[in-house]
Amino acid sequence: MKVLIIGSGGREHAIAKAVAKNPNIEKIYCAPGNGGIASIAECVPIGAMEFEKLVDFAKEKAIDLSIVGMDDPLVGGIVDQFEKEGLRVFGPNKAAAILEGSKSFSKELMKKYRIPTAAYETFLDPQKALEYLKNADYPIVLKADGLALGKGVLICQNEEEAKAGVSAIMVEKQFGDAGNTLVIEEFMTGREVSVLAFVDGKTVIPMTSAQDHKRACDNDKGLNTGGMGTFSPSPFYTKEVHDFCQASIYQPTVTAMAAEGRKFCGILFFGLMLTESGPKVLEYNVRFGDPEAQVVLLRMKTDLITVLSACIDGTLDEIDLEFEDNAAVCVVLASKGYPLHYEKGFAIKGLEHFDDTEDYACFHAGTLKDNAGTIRTNGGRVLGVTAKGRNLKEARDKAYEATKWVEFENKYMRTDIGKAVEG
Ligand code: AMP
Ligand code: GLY
Repeated sequence: MKVLIIGSGGREHAIAKAVAKNPNIEKIYCAPGNGGIASIAECVPIGAMEFEKLVDFAKEKAIDLSIVGMDDPLVGGIVDQFEKEGLRVFGPNKAAAILEGSKSFSKELMKKYRIPTAAYETFLDPQKALEYLKNADYPIVLKADGLALGKGVLICQNEEEAKAGVSAIMVEKQFGDAGNTLVIEEFMTGREVSVLAFVDGKTVIPMTSAQDHKRACDNDKGLNTGGMGTFSPSPFYTKEVHDFCQASIYQPTVTAMAAEGRKFCGILFFGLMLTESGPKVLEYNVRFGDPEAQVVLLRMKTDLITVLSACIDGTLDEIDLEFEDNAAVCVVLASKGYPLHYEKGFAIKGLEHFDDTEDYACFHAGTLKDNAGTIRTNGGRVLGVTAKGRNLKEARDKAYEATKWVEFENKYMRTDIGKAVEG
């Protein structure tokens, strides 16, 4: 079997590693991939948004299954293009990917089908948004409707900040067309949990839980990033919480999408807030989280290819999804200055420590292999150093120990991933 993975981050490295375990895999390609993925897949220099080139490549190489890791191509309709050409592909089509592509769509869906989420209003006109802010409760949350690299959410402490936010999103268009529509949302408090789920259009099977640390600095200070580290499972995601979410959030969302004529097949990522009045949806994503995939897939016992195939074939109800009874922690090694300004191109030393280790993995995010074969830094988030342990404390201690194995100039990491919840 030949597989093509589309994307270039730590998430795609984790997917590639899981795919490689299947005994029927002859060859893995990754477009465009990165320096670490290159050790298990052939990286091809085609961008994730170059749909026609990707379709041609999949035909030319007779790819049996293409897996789309990233949100942009999914929201842009890559799956429809592949399916039109008769190619087998994993991920939601454009009509279903709108669940991540438009926050106003997802909020309306939740309202219509009574899926618990924060109260909200939608605005097309900045004047009306400013008017609304006069009598609002603070803090309040502003969200650009469309995709904004995870940066389109502003938490505003008072009317002054919120007015500046409306201007930045709707007038100055800091997030481009993503800010044509604005969602203003009630601020919720509680523990955040990420739950990724496999979906085949009707059945939804959640994976083990995880939690991301989005801020750049320790104690959740600093700017929002793509994610500085994760741990899995979340001790706050109890059986009771799970049962509630399955009955009131996961299944209703999948059933609602089918009822709307937008059958969802792929990974559905539920960003949840465990509030005092019960779990509520913060956001939906339509792909694996990054770096959630790194900790979740490392603990998955069931063969990934088997599950993805069942999603495409509509036979997910026959799958018995199993995870190891342990914990995993992923610490992101970033370039100093991320998420704003940082330098790239530094040689990375010590990666060989991860060869042949069962409990450790070093997922590459922003790396490249130069012509001399040296792996160099090539992005803000560089590596995801990940370890498994019997519990969160052991996994965390091992992951932090392993961060010392790797050296590169301007290496930066948070020192408190999973710390507040050590079990
Ligand atoms: P999102 O991109 O929607 O996940 O939002 C990014 C982050 O903003 C989330 O992980 C939360 O920490 C925070 N956030 C989003 N919506 C809310 C809300 N309604 N109340 C409190 N925090 C929120
Ligand atoms: N880690 C959050 C995301 O992938 O959106």
